[in-house]
Amino acid sequence: MITKIKGTNDILPAGLGGDIFIAEKWAALKKIIDDVVDNFNYQFIDTPIFEATELFVKGIGDVTDIVQKEMFSFTDRGDRELTLRPEGTASIVRAYIENSIAKKSNIARLAYQGPMFRAEKPQKGRYRQFHQFGVECMGGAEPNFDVEVISLFWTILQATGLKKMKLHINTVGTEASREIYRQQLREFFQDKKDKLCSDCQNRYDSNVMRILDCKNPHCNELAEGVPPIYDSLDEESTLHYAEVKSQLNNLGISFIEDPTLVRGLDYYSKTSFEIIHDQIGAQATIVGGGRYDSLIKQSGGGDVPAVGAAFGVERLLLSIDAEGIDLVTLKQPDFFLVLLDKDKESEMSKLLFDLRNRGFFALSSDGSRQVGKQLKAADKSKSKFVVFIGGDEWNEGSLAIKNLKSGEQQRLEISPEGLVDSLAQFLNRS
Ligand code: HAM
Repeated sequence: MITKIKGTNDILPAGLGGDIFIAEKWAALKKIIDDVVDNFNYQFIDTPIFEATELFVKGIGDVTDIVQKEMFSFTDRGDRELTLRPEGTASIVRAYIENSIAKKSNIARLAYQGPMFRAEKPQKGRYRQFHQFGVECMGGAEPNFDVEVISLFWTILQATGLKKMKLHINTVGTEASREIYRQQLREFFQDKKDKLCSDCQNRYDSNVMRILDCKNPHCNELAEGVPPIYDSLDEESTLHYAEVKSQLNNLGISFIEDPTLVRGLDYYSKTSFEIIHDQIGAQATIVGGGRYDSLIKQSGGGDVPAVGAAFGVERLLLSIDAEGIDLVTLKQPDFFLVLLDKDKESEMSKLLFDLRNRGFFALSSDGSRQVGKQLKAADKSKSKFVVFIGGDEWNEGSLAIKNLKSGEQQRLEISPEGLVDSLAQFLNRS
């Protein structure tokens, strides 16, 4: 048998296997997301799943882990270098520039979702095909846009019922501040350089701030006592950061300041943030994002400041599950039709169709025609009412209806408008 590729998941309908990767949970989460996206005045955008490799190399940064180790890249039949998107921001920025969105909208508020691909070592919460929901807010330089994005994610998480998530924030400053900080970090790590992991030894020269983001506990120990970035910040970065914190306080969103939060992508400037849930194992970051004021310009667009973030749908569902929250309220069927006379089969099919056509959730047994078994199936379906097709009442032009919750059975006279109307009125009265 050919099996799925390691690090990918089937998302199955409820009752057919799986626990987190259940289609109904994804659909319930999608409804919550859609509502919040509307309320925050964002609009969905969809971009291709594959793009030119260069887009990600330039956008995400050629010395990041994603670009160096994790991209699913290939050469197509026309010798083009292509990559399955590892994240959404680079593609959204491309679409923003290519479609001249800046000319049509001062502030573009874009939302997106879909599969992303990274060749990381699979483990709980870390997959090779995973799904992100993200937003990018383009055109606003002021701190209130950072806070808008953070609060949008906070609102989604709260709407799922999640309580134990924690917002971590930091600033990585403007490019000028970062240059001063990089110099400080190189001095700090100079004597310890040989003891760093081989990745971090490379990072020392190419991207020294990323040493702070290394997952190797030994490197974390060596980074203890590292000077915080705050002393290297220029006035613009300091004021921006202070305003973000003050506005978050004003909204009542509590946060933890984390001076080592530098994030794994190179495009960030000023605010960076993550939302973490500590009950889902090693891959605890649900949401990651921040401001990226230079990316649009670097990618060939105008001088447009922007801020955005994304969460992994799988990690959010894992967190929801860890807190014992049941996202799914299964729809209760209105009617379950039980066939008493075999020769009324086509009348039952017609009633089933008419009810569904009028917007009711109606079922019938699709297995045995034995009455006992049909009633069992009706019980299992948790339908509100059983409607008997055939039998004395049916033959006398009325309906026998059983309330499955109370067990009470009653006779319903059919009004001149017909069967479906009688049932609709009955359901309304009940
Ligand atoms: P990121 O931190 O690379 O940021 O990913 C965002 C979220 O995607 C993570 O916090 C995590 O929940 C999920 N994620 C990432 N990799 C995996 C994986 N292998 N398996 C499962 N989930 C994963 C970005 O992608 C940025 N584009 C976010 C952003 C938008 N920044 C500004 N705008």
